[in-house]
Amino acid sequence: MRMKPYGIFPSLLFLCVVLSGRSSADLGRFWHISDLHWDPTYAATSSPDRVCASSGTRPAPNAGTYGHYNCDSPWELVLSSINAMKAILPDPDFIVWTGDDTPHVSDDQLGEDAVLRIVGNITRVLRQTFPETKVYAALGNHDYHPKSQLPPEPNSIYNRIAELWQDWLEPESQLTFNKGGFYTEELLKKSGYRVLILNTNLYYDQNKVTENILDPGGQFEWMDAVLMSAASKNEKVYIVGHVPPGFFEKKKRKPWFRSEFNRRYLGLIQKHHAVISGQFFGHHHTDSFRMFYDSKGNPIGTMFLTPGVTPWKTTLPGVEDGANNPGIRVFEYDMTTLLVKDMVTYYLNLTYANVVWERWEKEYRLCESFRVPDASPTSMHYILEQLEDSGCDLQKYYEFNSVSYDLSSCDADCRADHVCAIREVDFDRYEQCIAKEGAPSTHPALVPLLLCVAVSLYGTSQ
Ligand SMILES: *[C@@H]1O[C@H](CO)[C@@H](O)[C@H](O)[C@H]1NC(C)=O
Ligand SMILES: *[C@@H]1O[C@H](CO)[C@@H](O)[C@H](O)[C@H]1NC(C)=O
Ligand SMILES: [Zn+2]
Ligand SMILES: [Zn+2]
Repeated sequence: MRMKPYGIFPSLLFLCVVLSGRSSADLGRFWHISDLHWDPTYAATSSPDRVCASSGTRPAPNAGTYGHYNCDSPWELVLSSINAMKAILPDPDFIVWTGDDTPHVSDDQLGEDAVLRIVGNITRVLRQTFPETKVYAALGNHDYHPKSQLPPEPNSIYNRIAELWQDWLEPESQLTFNKGGFYTEELLKKSGYRVLILNTNLYYDQNKVTENILDPGGQFEWMDAVLMSAASKNEKVYIVGHVPPGFFEKKKRKPWFRSEFNRRYLGLIQKHHAVISGQFFGHHHTDSFRMFYDSKGNPIGTMFLTPGVTPWKTTLPGVEDGANNPGIRVFEYDMTTLLVKDMVTYYLNLTYANVVWERWEKEYRLCESFRVPDASPTSMHYILEQLEDSGCDLQKYYEFNSVSYDLSSCDADCRADHVCAIREVDFDRYEQCIAKEGAPSTHPALVPLLLCVAVSLYGTSQ
């Protein structure tokens, strides 16, 4: 049995502590929140069938003030998450908010006005809680009526959301937002730094409106031009969006983009990776990441998938017990290069919150938990390799994946799903990966969990 030695990176652990230390002058911080999915019908009643519309036909027994795993967020949870942001890091450099504000209910239970009211309510709380903070907000597939049908042309919803977000959007951003739901700005108006906020809902395979369009809204052409110009101006760029390319790690062979859109997105990242310092997406409600490589296999980029605030158990067929605890995340970045140095995820143990109090606690710090010096593509690639080779790291990652909701063990099949989704954004390469990783005995047997506890105790004593 092949097993990597543990604890061989004490120096890296040390580096991590130094590099992510609070004293570093050029270390910036920003919040990333996603998928709040407020369900205005939520009421913590004792009749399990009448708690929330978003549970569908599933009962929600013992529902509490802060929510239920079968339901989308009650208003108390929306407020609790935004108040936790304020308590933990009251003055971030900016906030990334990657959408999905409305509940998982049928379209006839919402309508255009309801969608706009919900987006408006959450916008208002964020603005009132962080009046001085710039928010980079992206549209989710649930921020439209009918859901996921975001069009590649002007419409009343883009228009009215642009009004709701007018304090956050530069005048030029409002123009492109009104046309296609996307925009770009200099990051915090600093020359040399840029952020692209995409409307990747245009590429979602559930979006029938864009099905036969080569480049919906001209967003690819626009993105290519913006990134080309960024290169000529020596800018560093962050990319923000809702629906990510590649595959869902909790369900085998489940992509979101139509295949041609997936190919095009991946091509643009490979073409322009030199200026792209990070990609920040949501939609999964889970905590994961995606790797991008050049043709030689060198890691050139990472997309960070930030977990959702809603605990809602997905109804996707084939996903077992796909709920999560509410999560929010702080990114720490080098203000000179925009390189992501570290990230800290905070969470609310929903079970605990409902019976004791709304305690938001640190779930983990990336560098600390995975013994890397930073969150660069090289370090994230190292973590991915550890997921393949170390049962303990895989298990740790797996528990974080559901924001410490699902603590069951991740077996070999589970490992293949996660590793392949993280490594291969490309459809064909993902398929090859599943075929290879799914084959028996290419890997050491998974380590008994008891051993992981011992190893992690040993690790923290260094
Ligand atoms: C949401 O906004 C509407 C106005 O659009 C307001 O009437 C309602 O009270 C708000 N709800 C909450 C919970 O803030
Ligand atoms: C969440 O809280 C419940 C109730 O206190 C507890 O049983 C459970 O172990 C907690 N989960 C985690 C990951 O700490
Ligand atoms: Zn969502
Ligand atoms: Zn979504």
